[in-house]
Amino acid sequence: MTSSIKLACVMVGLPARGKTFISYKVSRYLQWLGIRTKVFDTDDYQRRLCSGCSFSHEFPTIDAEDNTTAVTAATQALQDMLQWFQESGNNSATTTISASGSAVAIYDGTNITKKKRKWIHDTLVDNDIQVLFIESLCDDEKRIRENIRDVKVASNDNNITTEKAIDDYLAQINKYKDIYETINEDNLTYIKLINAGQQYVIHLVRGYLESRIVYYLLNLNTKKKRIWLSRHGESQFNVQDKIGGDADLSPRGELYANTLPTLISKHIGDDYPLTALDELDTGVCDGMTYDEIAEKFPDDFLQRDQDKFNYRYRGGESYRDLVLRLEPVIMELEQHEKILIVAHQATIRCLYAYFMNLDHEQLPYARVPLHTLIELTPTAYHCEENYYKVDIEAVDTYRPKAAGVQNVQKSSSNAAAGVSGEVVDSTEPILPISPHPSSSNISFSQLK
Ligand code: G3H
Repeated sequence: MTSSIKLACVMVGLPARGKTFISYKVSRYLQWLGIRTKVFDTDDYQRRLCSGCSFSHEFPTIDAEDNTTAVTAATQALQDMLQWFQESGNNSATTTISASGSAVAIYDGTNITKKKRKWIHDTLVDNDIQVLFIESLCDDEKRIRENIRDVKVASNDNNITTEKAIDDYLAQINKYKDIYETINEDNLTYIKLINAGQQYVIHLVRGYLESRIVYYLLNLNTKKKRIWLSRHGESQFNVQDKIGGDADLSPRGELYANTLPTLISKHIGDDYPLTALDELDTGVCDGMTYDEIAEKFPDDFLQRDQDKFNYRYRGGESYRDLVLRLEPVIMELEQHEKILIVAHQATIRCLYAYFMNLDHEQLPYARVPLHTLIELTPTAYHCEENYYKVDIEAVDTYRPKAAGVQNVQKSSSNAAAGVSGEVVDSTEPILPISPHPSSSNISFSQLK
């Protein structure tokens, strides 16, 4: 039985403290886990109210009481958020089975006074919504300047104009230091992140969702990073059109395995950790072709096309299971600044989806070609991707959704809980803290 939780994360902090970065990271992570999540950015509301006026480094957005536009924007954002929660509740009876019954809204604004926080808190609690405040504090001027340069002022050059713009922006922010009240309200649930993870203060955090978010925030690393993903070389199963398994590499796959280290030294260097992770467990279908599965398990074949993310192979896994298995890997990835992951198609899809913010419809259909190194560079609010295709032929293992198949809509109460070979509703809280036993670190020699 899944209980639906409505939770609002309310950001607190001066501009250029990474609040929007944190908001979108948390949102992306929760959506990846299958929790309905939306960011309500009060800056966006101000921009809309103030279309026509310049909204730049000269106008850092502090929702103090003397800024009437900001107050109106904050009120509208809160109203929209309440409405969104209401719609989440209305939809929960007929929610797609890929969605959890819980909903998390992230209210991104400065919220630097106790009075403002009390208003937000009381309004939400009156509407049966739990509230978690996330405060980002930073007194490291270098880091603040970098943040302003990255996301607040036009990023042309590190020239004098930009530096002057940063000085102006800082001067505007500093005016508000006098009215800033850090959170210390006894009745509020909060986490304070001090100097981007040097220190944390956690107060009154309880329950699954709040703990999950706090766990993620404790692992969040704001340092710039790069992730490289590669599938193994073409395997015998790939050539024979079979799924799953630990088949040997084909001669072309061997060639790719031998070429990969050179490609990696060229683009990454030699100093990086390497992780390899197991493929989606296809259970009784391991080693079968899609045609064989369609013939032997026609209902399963159709169900998988109807909801590929939630379909669990008989005796195996669903993509949803795989996401949960990979959650500890995501925490690891957040820690590293440079890492290469060599894995199978479905595994790479799940990791790629986390960084590229793909939803559960898109995730199982992401294109991950063989013999290609994918470079991901997360930026403040997005992720850039770059493909290095190696000039070694390989089969195309991509299977699009069959034409004419509609996604199923099913009330979560009708969904089978954990039965292999069916579309399952696995929205129960699961805390897979320890890595899957079959996940392993491997070296290049094992790859070859
Ligand atoms: O062998 C398993 C495949 O990587 C899974 O691919 O989800 O597109 O069927 P698929």
